[in-house]
Amino acid sequence: MEIRKVGVMGCGLMGSGITQVAAQAGFPVTVLEVSKEALQAGLKRIDQFLTGGVAKGKLRPEDKEATQSRISGVTAYGALRDCDLVIEAVVEDLATKKQAFRSLEESLKPEAVIASNTSSLSISEMAAVTSRPQRFVGLHFFNPVPLMKLVEVIRGLQTTPEVEAAAVAFTRALGKTPIRTSDRPGFIVNRLLVPYLLDSIRALEEGVGSIVDIDQGMKLGCGHPMGPLTLNDLVGIDTTYHIANIMFEEFRERRFAPPPLMKRMVLTGLHGRKTGRGFYDYSSEPARPNDFLCPGARGGKEPGA
Ligand code: CAA
Repeated sequence: MEIRKVGVMGCGLMGSGITQVAAQAGFPVTVLEVSKEALQAGLKRIDQFLTGGVAKGKLRPEDKEATQSRISGVTAYGALRDCDLVIEAVVEDLATKKQAFRSLEESLKPEAVIASNTSSLSISEMAAVTSRPQRFVGLHFFNPVPLMKLVEVIRGLQTTPEVEAAAVAFTRALGKTPIRTSDRPGFIVNRLLVPYLLDSIRALEEGVGSIVDIDQGMKLGCGHPMGPLTLNDLVGIDTTYHIANIMFEEFRERRFAPPPLMKRMVLTGLHGRKTGRGFYDYSSEPARPNDFLCPGARGGKEPGA
């Protein structure tokens, strides 16, 4: 089972990153978006990252050009028909994903493998709406995709060993390190990461420490590349909230329950870097902690004190 031509459904934060790394690894990639505007925004994100790579001396200008020449942006599912592997990276909503698979399969060749980049939904359940549950697998990338080395390869209940092996080989061809996991909510990484991210918000709510001190604690005390509240902002507070709700629904354990502050931040549009404000305000450099969130945000002092 050889993967030569790759398709990606969705050119958002994750889809554009997956498109980029596949094209950089030499695969021709067709990326699909629902609208021309969304497609342009995704292709622009790729261009910005590659331009940054050239400026940092990480990438030769000719490699940037070659990478971009391997990417075709499309808005019609039919353009994916000849792909050997199509990776779904549309919004994390089961109904939307199921509909995308149905539209894809109207033209996709029967021997192609379909993969989902879901971080929390069931691979087996999505596979069941397709005509090829044995050729369906999870490929979970991490944000920012071009910089993070890991990909979780998730076997659904019906995924064949050949398809799992092809998925592992594909992630290696991208220069990533695959880990294998079974189809349980959160797989390996989010099962461990999500309770940690939620606990950092609980610590803030309870006044255990300020935003900056909680982040410094885990950065300098545990050698993490960024603190948990900064990471919440990077992943997207709405995204982690959504994943946590799915995991809580499944396990019914408090460690997966989103804290009240998180819910209020989601409802008021404080989603992190993508909206410019979350635990930090990104309107100026360096980002400033959002003191108004709760008394604990300033180490127990009321805002304005
Ligand atoms: N092109 C090429 N290389 C680039 C680049 C670009 N445009 N931009 C940055 N880089 C390189 C840098 O040159 C640097 O390389 P060296 O290490 O060789 O010097 C490296 O990438 C790191 O970049 P920076 O120095 O600019 O930034 P940093 O050191 O602060 O690292 C980070 C940034 C990689 C994001 C790091 O902070 C990190 O690992 N954070 C944690 C991220 C994380 O945990 N992600 C997972 C989230 S969970 C998830 O995604 C799953 C889910 O389902 C929710």
